Amino acid sequence: MDIIEEINRLKKEKNAVILSHYYVDDDVKEVADYTGDSYYLSKVAKETDADIIVLSGVSFMGESAKLLNPEKTVLMPDSHADCPMAHMATVEYIEKVKEKYDDIAVVCYINSTALLKSHSDVCVTSANAVKVVKALPNKNILFIPDENLGRYVASQVPEKNFIFNPGFCPIHKGISAAELAECKKKYPDAEVLTHPECTQDVLALSDFIGSTSGIIKYAGESKAASFIICTECGVLYELRERYPDKTFYTVGLPTCVNMKKVTLEKILDVLKTGKNEIFLDNDLKDKALASLDKMLELAK
Ligand code: 13P
Ligand code: SF4
Repeated sequence: MDIIEEINRLKKEKNAVILSHYYVDDDVKEVADYTGDSYYLSKVAKETDADIIVLSGVSFMGESAKLLNPEKTVLMPDSHADCPMAHMATVEYIEKVKEKYDDIAVVCYINSTALLKSHSDVCVTSANAVKVVKALPNKNILFIPDENLGRYVASQVPEKNFIFNPGFCPIHKGISAAELAECKKKYPDAEVLTHPECTQDVLALSDFIGSTSGIIKYAGESKAASFIICTECGVLYELRERYPDKTFYTVGLPTCVNMKKVTLEKILDVLKTGKNEIFLDNDLKDKALASLDKMLELAK
């Protein structure tokens, strides 16, 4: 029996479901029951009636799935697949900023540890951040941990006062505006579709800014025949599968090494052994879940 057949057999036997982010390797996405962006995966995780969720992605995604569906077993194919940005804020900083403002909402990008979520009022993903922040009654917003996404949201919600935190995604930060400008010269008819984790100078050169799902949707609806994609390279697989007649370029080949730690062999291993299960600290579970639930409520 080959590895894919074996994974599918174990999924059925154990009533397991595999959730993959777009950024994992293409062969891994082939065994996924659901593939999508962070927002979509959180909704699927909350609603699934499978007994086991295998999260093909990074730690914060597994933690979020466990928070949203605590009765389920959540397994990570690689327990070291972690998003560095998820750790780029501190509770001390949050508390210090909160002391300065009576009316402040701590808005936490879902790419964050459960600890940071537990000190926040609401979570957001790149797909719903603008909508959620607009829906908050608070004038003052502390946005953690990603400064780039925070600045993008601030540009869309100018009526609010934002305080930022110096976190970033090393992959999206690595996409250079100078190289993008060169690429645009080479392909002048191509539209530039960009993830809001990119820096402000890259966003300024873009035709569309959105989450991975937003980028995929836009590329399908646009009349353009070619696109420069400014996000992690895993999205190209989906784009080329869905739109074989369109052409997609990238600026270099931005690759998230953590997402790429997930392999078919590791998925098979956790399905067989049940290892790398996510357990969360009892003290922070309720508060972290409240911030995720508030996101799901406000993003509807
Ligand atoms: P989405 O918010 O589009 O899922 O992607 C952001 C990301 O970096 C996931 O880690
Ligand atoms: Fe984290 Fe960036 Fe990788 Fe997304 S692409 S998981 S934000 S390091």
